[in-house]
Amino acid sequence: MEREAAAERIHVLRQQIRHHDYLYYVRDAPEIADAEYDRLFRELVALEEEHPELVSPDSPTQRVGGEPLDAFPTLEHAAPMLSLDSSEDPAALRRFDERLRKALDDHAVAYVVEPKLDGASVELVYEHGVLVRAATRGDGRRGEGVTENVRTIQAVPLRLREPQADGAKSGGKKRGGAKGVSTKGGAAVPRFVAVRGEVVMNVEDFERLNQRLVEEGREPFANPRNAAAGALRQLDPQITAARRLDVAVYDILAADWTGGGPPPASQWQVLETLRAWGLRVNRLPRRVETVDEILAYHAELEARRDDLGFEIDGVVVKLDDLAARDELGTTARHPRWAFAFKFPPRVEVTRLERIVPSVGRTGVVTPVALLRPVQLSGVTVARATLHNREEVARKDVREGDRVRVQRAGDVIPQVIEVIEEPGHERGPAWRMPAECPSCGTGLVERGPFTVCPNSLGCPAQLAGRIVHFASRDALDVEGLGDETSKLLVAEGLVRRLPDLFDLQPAQIEPLPGFAAVSAGKLVDGIRRAAKVDLDRFLYGLGIPEVGVAVARDLARHFGKLSALREADDEGLQQVPGVGPRMAEQITGFFAEPLNSELLDALLERVELGETEPAARHPAGEQPLAGKKVVFTGALAKLTRREAKDLVESLGARATSSVSKSTGFVVAGEDPGSKLDEAQALGVTVLDEGAFLALLAEHGVAPGGG
Ligand code: IVH
Repeated sequence: MEREAAAERIHVLRQQIRHHDYLYYVRDAPEIADAEYDRLFRELVALEEEHPELVSPDSPTQRVGGEPLDAFPTLEHAAPMLSLDSSEDPAALRRFDERLRKALDDHAVAYVVEPKLDGASVELVYEHGVLVRAATRGDGRRGEGVTENVRTIQAVPLRLREPQADGAKSGGKKRGGAKGVSTKGGAAVPRFVAVRGEVVMNVEDFERLNQRLVEEGREPFANPRNAAAGALRQLDPQITAARRLDVAVYDILAADWTGGGPPPASQWQVLETLRAWGLRVNRLPRRVETVDEILAYHAELEARRDDLGFEIDGVVVKLDDLAARDELGTTARHPRWAFAFKFPPRVEVTRLERIVPSVGRTGVVTPVALLRPVQLSGVTVARATLHNREEVARKDVREGDRVRVQRAGDVIPQVIEVIEEPGHERGPAWRMPAECPSCGTGLVERGPFTVCPNSLGCPAQLAGRIVHFASRDALDVEGLGDETSKLLVAEGLVRRLPDLFDLQPAQIEPLPGFAAVSAGKLVDGIRRAAKVDLDRFLYGLGIPEVGVAVARDLARHFGKLSALREADDEGLQQVPGVGPRMAEQITGFFAEPLNSELLDALLERVELGETEPAARHPAGEQPLAGKKVVFTGALAKLTRREAKDLVESLGARATSSVSKSTGFVVAGEDPGSKLDEAQALGVTVLDEGAFLALLAEHGVAPGGG
């Protein structure tokens, strides 16, 4: 292409890609299929390769840059990055509120409450809208320049958007999905602005990283915060990029508003402004006026803590009015206008009673600590993973020890350390058995792992594969958990996965714990699950490294299982997030003749659907296209899964949290906090009857298909 035409096209492509990044990361409302996005991206890469002189540092292609650094430069912050006064004690919160009201002479006080994200604090500096540097908090005045690493975080825009450019200017078509989120308070981007936010690692990525570290015989991170901070401080940006960090911003540290503005006057406007500039802002902040409302918010977030997908360790309470903040000022260390109201830590001390080897679906034998049951923020914990024999040796954990256990990010608790007890006679060091506790085969050592090599014959491995195949994110078969899977295997009713679909009620009825009705239900459940979307099926296969998110990416990219089975390493690496290592695992899985046979047998018994309804129907047939729907509470006539499938068949997208862009909320029996959120935001709420009526209007009925 001619240089001029190329420059023009590059400009358009960059704008489109930025627009779609914004819709995806900030508005959570993508308008195009991933494949289409990939196409734009590849076209840009190709044009820039053809015309290297047209590459600019803020191009979306320039996230992962050149060579590893030798050291991080020290950078001075545009304004001090203060820390917060904090406590878990509601009385301390009340004192904070009283002090503040008194100092402000009690004129109307409003707060913004936000989740306290448990990650690493960063400063991002934009000049003329372009990201020029990023630094860790350091000592509050100076931090480490981690610009190259922060650039690799997809959710960090390399260039801010002008708020008024929404839709029209950016070349993107404006459709239903993008409306609703307020971008008002959208001051023009200042020529200089430093914002503050938190870099976090989402729980799913944290678990995957830890699993990999353990596989490589390295020590896993204790929590997502350490993992995020560790990833941010890698000298090689490639490593940071592979760890998939995320970000949420919450503050403007400093700005030069000359010629722009007006600057926001409240924290709420700050958040709106940041979002309007295309920065990612957390969805959960709320504007409140009383301590009781703060307590309720705190209780609500604590209850939802395990379902958020990212780790939080409390809520931050901030005076909304920025002018009043200036009046209050700061102490030497923290502002007087903000307070971190923390959750109690999820760490406890208990006795480790036994260490037992447990055989998983991949044959890896994991030492599991059986604990004297202990309460960790509302959950009774009786087991914790010890990862592998090296980890047991490294921590020198023995039966009978007193140990500190922690639940962080991971739902699975971990043993952090042994607590010394002077005078206590410790047991012998723990040793891995020589034979598989399930099938008696001699165990072998593979790196730090101990593995049962009998992958086809070991009952524990097969039972583990069944549980995974039937799990909620895979085929979602009700009643096919650990116990039942073990029973089906032990009775010889299931010798390999495809046998599941051939089960007859009469075979199950005589098993302990079953009767005619329950046997029929299980078989029905399995038959119903045989109609399954490709992404769930892929995840259920248990391909090494392929978690829920990767399975979805693969399904969207390839569309059909046959295309994925034929893909080579290079083709796989076209999928965002699939690196060489993962690609190799996937091709390796499909190349294995036994897996191939197993897949063919499964394909005779299941009916694979497609993954992304939004991308496959022409818009005209999708009366709910672009709408986001949130479910809360139990529905009487259909399962959550069915309800989701039905709305998605009409083009809507089922999402998990309520925001102003939510189309409507369906509230069943015993709705949760999402109902309150919907009401607070003025989002339409439908009860089950109204929801069914809406479906019927569009010719869709539960159970009818
Ligand atoms: S406001 C002066 N808001 O918690 C205002 N901090 O010491 C200072 N954090 O280091 C921070 N989520 O890294 C604020 N929504 C949020 C936050 C948040 C997490 C971190 C921040 C800070 C620590 C408190």
